[in-house]
Amino acid sequence: MSAARLPVPVADAQVLSQALCAALRKEIRAIGELSFARYMEIALYEPGLGYYSAGSRKFGEHGDFVTAPEISPLFSRCLARQCAQVFGAIGDGEQRTILELGAGSGAMAADILAELSAMDCLPDRYLILEVSADLRNRQQARLADDMPGYFPSIEWLVDFPAIPIHGCIVANEVLDALPVERFVIADGRLQQVMVGLEDELFCLRSREMPAELASQLSGRLALPVANYPPGYTSEFCPALDPWVASIAACLAEGMLLFTDYGFNRADYYHPDRAGGTLMCHYRHRAHAEVFFWPGLQDITAWVEFSAVAEAAADGGLELAGFTTQAHWLLSLGLDELVAQSVAGDQKEQLELAQQIKTLTLPGEMGERFKAIAFTRGLDIALRGFAMRDFSDRL
Ligand SMILES: C[S@@+](CC[C@H](N)C(=O)[O-])C[C@H]1O[C@@H](n2cnc3c(N)ncnc32)[C@H](O)[C@@H]1O
Repeated sequence: MSAARLPVPVADAQVLSQALCAALRKEIRAIGELSFARYMEIALYEPGLGYYSAGSRKFGEHGDFVTAPEISPLFSRCLARQCAQVFGAIGDGEQRTILELGAGSGAMAADILAELSAMDCLPDRYLILEVSADLRNRQQARLADDMPGYFPSIEWLVDFPAIPIHGCIVANEVLDALPVERFVIADGRLQQVMVGLEDELFCLRSREMPAELASQLSGRLALPVANYPPGYTSEFCPALDPWVASIAACLAEGMLLFTDYGFNRADYYHPDRAGGTLMCHYRHRAHAEVFFWPGLQDITAWVEFSAVAEAAADGGLELAGFTTQAHWLLSLGLDELVAQSVAGDQKEQLELAQQIKTLTLPGEMGERFKAIAFTRGLDIALRGFAMRDFSDRL
């Protein structure tokens, strides 16, 4: 979709975006050009102005995109069942903890806790690490309303916990929000996509990729650089390894689970996927205009799960499973939960049927979205991968 066909933001939002653009121009003028990852970091996370840091509504019908926990509580209820299995395997006397990364509106935390409460399996504490001050405020308001009795056991963090936890670390659609570098292959060489200014307008240009970045990336591609067609464009996330290493260091015993959209390496860097996976989201329109009102739209890239598995292994974690969202939800008893839920009127039943379709059908979220889990010190097979485990494809 071209920018001309996207809805025009309201005046207040335009003012915010103009302030962010001024900050971007200042940084570009100071150093000549920005890497794409730095542009994405500012556009998403600049304090007070970036997409996730400013106060606009992002999730749900009136936002820009819908995530699985926003579509249906069934997603988080299944996740809660996985956490309950892990809690059952954790050493006696340990403080059972869930650490959620990037909790968005707080919907997933609220539904996980409601399900664990119904199972009489609440964790001793629920930690949330959220980089956005605005989202932190929204999560606090939501959880104070939804879980008043448990609320004192919920703690917000601005950094990884200093003492490693016993329990579960979970993150839905956070990996796809990490800033990525874009690259282009030209004349069999890796070029780095940069953001510059031409007549005060942002523009993309490419330059020879610095040697260190090029060697990091070439080790990650599915094929030698020379085997890709000219103009092949894609992304990679240099921040992934240190980020996953920090998370792995937070897990003394238990499970780390990521759910997100993406592919294994062979599919991600398939020569036919010649335009990459970068996507912008504005008012439920997906498009490729990365300079459309910076700060007002989401910018994401799909996740390359083989790299996630390597980073977690480097952090000393064991791969416990990799599967599609549909298989993962069904393994965790989605059908049983649905059977318990169909007591409402016809309208509610139709809504429920629609939610299940969106979460599980291959053309919706069922196949594009994956679950990948790692464990430390656990001697159990995780329930979520009982039906199908595609770990051998990583
Ligand atoms: C696409 S939203 C997903 C929100 C929520 N998990 C959901 O599924 O609805 C990405 C979330 O990750 C947060 N985030 C991004 N980078 C992060 C980081 N490095 N650490 C923790 N949270 C982060 C964002 O602020 C936001 O809450």
